Amino acid sequence: MSIAEIFSLDRKVAVVTGAGMGLGRTFAATLAEAGAHVVCADIEVAAASETARQILDSGGSAAAVRLDVTQEAEVASVMAGVVAQHGRLDIAVNNAGILEPSKPAHELELAEWDAVLAVNLRGVFLCAREAVKPMLQQRSGKIINVASIIGLVGADHPIPAYAASKGAVVNLTRELAIEYAPYHINVNALAPGYHGPTRLDRRYDHNPAWYARTKSLIPFGHFAKVESLRGSILYLASSASDYVTGHILVVDGGYVAR
Ligand SMILES: NC(=O)c1ccc[n+]([C@@H]2O[C@H](COP(=O)([O-])OP(=O)(O)OC[C@H]3O[C@@H](n4cnc5c(N)ncnc54)[C@H](O)[C@@H]3O)[C@@H](O)[C@H]2O)c1
Repeated sequence: MSIAEIFSLDRKVAVVTGAGMGLGRTFAATLAEAGAHVVCADIEVAAASETARQILDSGGSAAAVRLDVTQEAEVASVMAGVVAQHGRLDIAVNNAGILEPSKPAHELELAEWDAVLAVNLRGVFLCAREAVKPMLQQRSGKIINVASIIGLVGADHPIPAYAASKGAVVNLTRELAIEYAPYHINVNALAPGYHGPTRLDRRYDHNPAWYARTKSLIPFGHFAKVESLRGSILYLASSASDYVTGHILVVDGGYVAR
């Protein structure tokens, strides 16, 4: 295989959740540029449609679909619909995620905890569960769960539900990797450090003190642009990672190396 073939996603079919903005939009565009047909799924369907339009305008292949990843029936129907239309599902990027208001655990409402866990953990579980079904038939597939460095270490500001959800995604990834290795299905996680601009990241716009302190914890000394994750998502989605499973790919300017 040539290097171009190793990284090519020609004839692959991908689903990216939370594809309407931020990291998800970049992931969708990257997979499409490498040749995949990308189904852009998001609870905000107008945003997903805009991502798909941008891909089509650049000569790629994409479609948009409304999906709330917390809803079991919706997830099953979207994944089954992709298979009904395209005959296969090769790549599932489980990216949709939310963050609670920053507050210590003793101030966190149960509803705030439940809301974050529903999207970040139940959503990843449901999407992985439904995506793996056609992959089991195919005996191939790539599942990429989007975790966070805050799934590996405690955060530099209080976000207990987010930290718990991302830690769980990290170990769910390892568990699924072992379960599905006999079927040649790779299950890996991407654990980004601080990337912007995204809606999630804009939460800190009003807090220059937080920016300064967090930046000082990053050995590279700066935050990253979402585009800097393009190579990492392509690596995990392509043949380049065929012997890699249960891996947590940290892309963080050295944050967790401390
Ligand atoms: N931005 C960062 O620095 C960073 C760092 C580490 C991890 N992450 C993770 O990357 C992922 C994307 O984050 P982002 O910064 O791009 O956030 P974002 O808020 O910009 O985008 C999140 C997307 O998910 C969608 N979404 C939210 N709830 C949904 C649901 N129930 N069903 C379907 N879609 C839903 C939103 O509509 C939005 O399009 C998240 O899992 C986040 O935890 C981000």
